[in-house]
Amino acid sequence: MIELSGISKTYAKSAVKAVDDLSLSIRDGEIFGFLGPNGAGKTTTIKVFTGVLRADKGTALIDGIDIAASPIEAKRRIGYVTDNPELFSRLKAAEYLNFVSDVYDVDTATRQARVTEYATLFGIRDALGGSIGSFSHGMKQKLLVTASLLSDPQNWVLDEPMVGLDPKAAFALKELMRARAAAGKTVFFSTHVMEVAEKLCDRLAIINKGRIVFIGSLTELKALQGSDNSLESLFLELVDEPAEEGV
Ligand SMILES: Nc1ncnc2c1ncn2[C@@H]1O[C@H](COP(=O)(O)OP(=O)(O)OP(=O)(O)O)[C@@H](O)[C@H]1O
Ligand SMILES: [Mg+2]
Repeated sequence: MIELSGISKTYAKSAVKAVDDLSLSIRDGEIFGFLGPNGAGKTTTIKVFTGVLRADKGTALIDGIDIAASPIEAKRRIGYVTDNPELFSRLKAAEYLNFVSDVYDVDTATRQARVTEYATLFGIRDALGGSIGSFSHGMKQKLLVTASLLSDPQNWVLDEPMVGLDPKAAFALKELMRARAAAGKTVFFSTHVMEVAEKLCDRLAIINKGRIVFIGSLTELKALQGSDNSLESLFLELVDEPAEEGV
């Protein structure tokens, strides 16, 4: 469960609020999609509630634990896939997974089982002996996803996870998201891929210029707009960015 209330964040030397009085509540067992144009504030929001950045105002509770007051306890309950898979390039992938397992206190038998399960699922098992610097973008992404699941976190947070994944891996990832939500865990992800949001999310939020412009299910969004349009056209209406033609 992730509960954000009144979160605001302005970067140093910036005149605008990257996130402006944002409140969201994501329940257990839910796949929650976070949509919005480039620069809308998705990554900033995610960094605030995963404890990477500190909010100027507001609170973020992870399973009821305040990320600012008890960061370690709250972070234990999060598996986080960043939007930038640039990792420790000199480490071997297996060393990185061991390091993450150590940080999260995952015992040897459990870490071996989970590494085998997810590295096999994403087709990187044979590459684990190689250095991360030699990995392609997609392989790094798969390694991050694998690492994020080693602690079997209650809250799985993914910032644009489909970017760079091949179709087989993207399919496997979507199945994992469904399975985890079905097991009562929280899945939160940001995306620009409308089809993925449309098919996967129980609920979604749309953010524009740091402010939430919609929270609810796709059905609610369609009812609100009084249309039977695709998510893509509803999204474009809400963020006021008409598709440009002939550019
Ligand atoms: N490190 C930073 N320093 C200063 N400003 C930043 C920084 N990171 C982001 N911003 C600004 O904060 C705002 C929100 O950016 P953010 O990265 O959260 O957007 P986003 O919704 O994740 O976009 P994208 O879809 O491109 O990933 C933008 O105006 C951006 O320029
Ligand atoms: Mg982003």
